[in-house]
Amino acid sequence: MSKKIQIAVVGSGYVGLVAAVCFAEMGHDVICVDNDERKVLALQGGDTLIHEDHLPELLNRYRNQRVRFMTDLAEATRECEAIFIAVGTPQSETGDADLSYVEAVASEIARSINGYKVIVEKSTVPVYTNEWIRRVIERNGVEREMFDVVSNPEFLREGTAVSDFLHPDRIVVGADSERAAAVLNAIYAPLTSGEYYDTENIIPGMLSSENPPPILLTSTKSAEIIKHASNAFLAMKISFINAVSNLCEAADANVEQVARGMGLDSRIGPKFLRPGIGYGGSCFPKDVAAFRSVAEQMGVDFSLLSEVEKINTEQKKRFLSKVRSALWTLRGKKLAVLGLAFKGETDDIRESPAIDLVEMLLGEGCSVTAYDPAAMERAKAELPESKQMIYATDSYAAARDADALLILTDWREFAGLDLHKLNATMRYPIVIDGRNLYDPHAMVEHGFTYMSVGRPAAHPVREAVAV
Ligand code: UDX
Ligand code: UDX
Repeated sequence: MSKKIQIAVVGSGYVGLVAAVCFAEMGHDVICVDNDERKVLALQGGDTLIHEDHLPELLNRYRNQRVRFMTDLAEATRECEAIFIAVGTPQSETGDADLSYVEAVASEIARSINGYKVIVEKSTVPVYTNEWIRRVIERNGVEREMFDVVSNPEFLREGTAVSDFLHPDRIVVGADSERAAAVLNAIYAPLTSGEYYDTENIIPGMLSSENPPPILLTSTKSAEIIKHASNAFLAMKISFINAVSNLCEAADANVEQVARGMGLDSRIGPKFLRPGIGYGGSCFPKDVAAFRSVAEQMGVDFSLLSEVEKINTEQKKRFLSKVRSALWTLRGKKLAVLGLAFKGETDDIRESPAIDLVEMLLGEGCSVTAYDPAAMERAKAELPESKQMIYATDSYAAARDADALLILTDWREFAGLDLHKLNATMRYPIVIDGRNLYDPHAMVEHGFTYMSVGRPAAHPVREAVAV
C-alpha cells in the first residue's frame, strides 16, 4: 500500500482543482486553497466551476472529505507536508511571466512553516523561479533545512485534464535534495507502482498496472525548462504545419495528406500536426512568449520562437482573408460562427483564436450569430454587447439565414452535423472551416461551397445551362 500524504494545493483553477481531486483519487488527503472566497464557497457547495470530463464525478466522491476547500493558506501550510503552488502566472507586458502571485503565496507559506515542508511549483514558471521561491522563504526567516522547493510541472490538457493527470506520459520531478524527491516519489507512487490502475472504478485512460508511467528525476532547473520547452515545441509543431498548409494552398496540394505522410514517420509522429486558425489557450501563447523572454534575458538567441508567434498571428489574418475572398465584401454580411472556445471540449476562451476572429469580423461590419456548446457564458463577458453579436441555442439556429458558416472550434459535435438540414437552413450554402472537420467531397455532394485550411476550395458543380 502506498503512503498517504497530506497535500495542499494553492489555486483552484484548471490545474490546481484537477490536481487536488486527482491526488485524492490516488489516496491522499488534500486541502485546496484559493484566495477567491466565492470560488471556495462554490466548490464547497458542489459547483465544479469548469467544464472538464470526470471532474464532477471525482468532486462528488471526495468533496469536503478527502478534498477540503478553504481560503486559509496558513492553516493549510501547517497541516500539510507538501504544498503545490498552482496559481496563475499570467503574461506581463514584456512577455515575461508575471510571478507576483507565486511570490505572494511563497511569502505566506514562509510565515506559517511549522516543520519540514516541500514546496512544489506546479504552475508553469521560468527557469530560476525555484531559486527565487527559496530566497523569498529564507528572507522571511525560515531556516534552510525546514523546506525544499521542487519543480513538478503539469502537462495536462484542458478537456481531458483528469485522465491526462492520472494517465500521464511521464511525471517530471526536479528536486535538488533526496529528502524532497522521496516525498514526491511517495505522492506519485500509486501511479508509478501501477497500484492505482488495479483499483476499482478508476478513471479510464491509456495506462495499466503492467504499463505504469515513468518518473523522471532531474535538477529543478531542468524540470522548469522541460515544461517551457515542451509547450514551445508543441506550439512550434502547430505553427510549422500551419506554414506548410499555406504552402499547400499556394501549390494546390492537400495539407491533410501532407500531415499524414509526415506523421507516419515515427520520428515526427502524427500528433499536433492539425492545421487550423492558430493555437490559443492559457498556455501556448503565454509560454512561448515567456520562454523567448527567458532566453533573451540569458543572452541566448532563440528567435525561432518569434517566428512561431508570427506564423500564429498571421494564421488568423489569413483566415479572415479567406472569409473575405468567399464573400467579396464583409460589411453587412450575416455570419454563423460555430465555436468560441480556444479548442473543442472546453469552456475556456482564454487567448481563443475564435474570439479574436469574431472581434475582427464585428470590426469589419459583419453581424455574427455564434454557438458554442460550453463557452458562451464566458464569451458573453468578453465580446462586445451589440445588436450585431447574437448567441444561438444550437448549430442550426446559428446557421439560420446566414450568408456563410464559419467553423472556428473543433468541438466533436461540429464534425457530425446533419448537412441536409444545415444547407436548408442557410441563405447561401457556404462553409469556411478553420478546423478541417469535413471531407471537401462530402460537402460538395451536399451542395456546399467549402473552404478549409491547406486544401483546395471545393465548389458544387453546376449543371450546364443550355442557351
Ligand atoms: C495554471 C497555471 O497556474 C499556469 O501557470 C499554467 O501555465 C496554466 O495553468 P490555471 O489553473 O489555468 O493556471 O489558472 P487559473 O484558472 O487562473 O487559476 C488560478 C487560481 O489561483 C484562481 O482560482 C485564483 O483565484 C487562485 N489564486 C491566484 C490564489 O489562490 N492566490 C493568488 O495569490 C492568486
Ligand atoms: C497545452 C499542452 O498540450 C499541455 O501539455 C499543457 O499542460 C497546457 O497547454 P491545452 O492548452 O489544454 O494544453 O490545449 P492543447 O490541446 O495543447 O491545444 C492548444 C491549442 O493548440 C488549441 O488552440 C488547439 O486548438 C491548438 N492545436 C492543437 C492546433 O491548432 N493543432 C493541433 O494539432 C493541436
